[in-house]
Amino acid sequence: DGRARVLADGNEIPLLALGVWQVPDGSECENAVRWALEAGYRHIDTAQAYGNEASVGRALRDSGLARDDVFITTKFYPGSRDPEAEAQRSLERLGVESVDLYIVHWPQGGPTWAWEGMQRAHERGYARSIGISNFSVSEVDELLKVAEVAPVVNQVQFSPFEFRRGLLTACEAHDVALEAYSPLGTGRHLRDRQVAEIAGRLDRSPAQVLIRWALQRGLIVLPKSTHRERIEQNAQVFDFELTSADMDALDGLDGTGGTDRALEQSWW
Ligand code: A2P
Repeated sequence: DGRARVLADGNEIPLLALGVWQVPDGSECENAVRWALEAGYRHIDTAQAYGNEASVGRALRDSGLARDDVFITTKFYPGSRDPEAEAQRSLERLGVESVDLYIVHWPQGGPTWAWEGMQRAHERGYARSIGISNFSVSEVDELLKVAEVAPVVNQVQFSPFEFRRGLLTACEAHDVALEAYSPLGTGRHLRDRQVAEIAGRLDRSPAQVLIRWALQRGLIVLPKSTHRERIEQNAQVFDFELTSADMDALDGLDGTGGTDRALEQSWW
């Protein structure tokens, strides 16, 4: 129904997720996840580095939803040694038997450094799908050359203002789905005049316009919020469409020159 897609490994992924980067562990994270699940989100994106997996797990259990109904992503913290052992620790903190998606958080040590351990975690059933984050085109290529189990997603910073077409095209060509983190530019893009103009005309919010842009560009999108009304608002994006003229106008906000610009480390 346009709310999920099938990944290269056959697993289905909901296109809209709540991202919980920088959401403090405890009631703030638990509430955000609870509100998201109540608002119909079926995909939560956390990471070992975020320090809030336990809260995500608690909110998931408290929701009463079946485990299979919610897609859970976590990410391997590349500073630590073993993706397989770290996956087990994540599962304990989350209180689940497996995650749906386990991602290398950034290509520290090189794009292939963690992959054997990621494949072991997959083989052991700790993760149904495995993927990568913050990988450039050349890093994706390098990994694909040696991977026995290919990554099915690459999660990167993506918005009309960071419209990395080269990366999108390359990932699509390899059937690596792109996931957009910071789709609102961590809030900065909500103040853009052109985004606001389109939003005003459609009687939508700037956040909804940016999320909708990502969906129409074929991305999985992970907006973050800790406010209930915003979490709810950000999910109301399947009942309207941007015209191709508005999509083109948003594409034109790109500040990367269409290149595969490397990310700043501080964003991770
Ligand atoms: P908050 O968490 O206080 O609600 P991104 O997803 O690009 O990282 O952006 C997240 C930032 O945007 C957060 O500061 C979040 O604030 C803010 N935000 C998220 N959704 C909305 C919204 N619908 N309206 C206004 N601000 C929002």
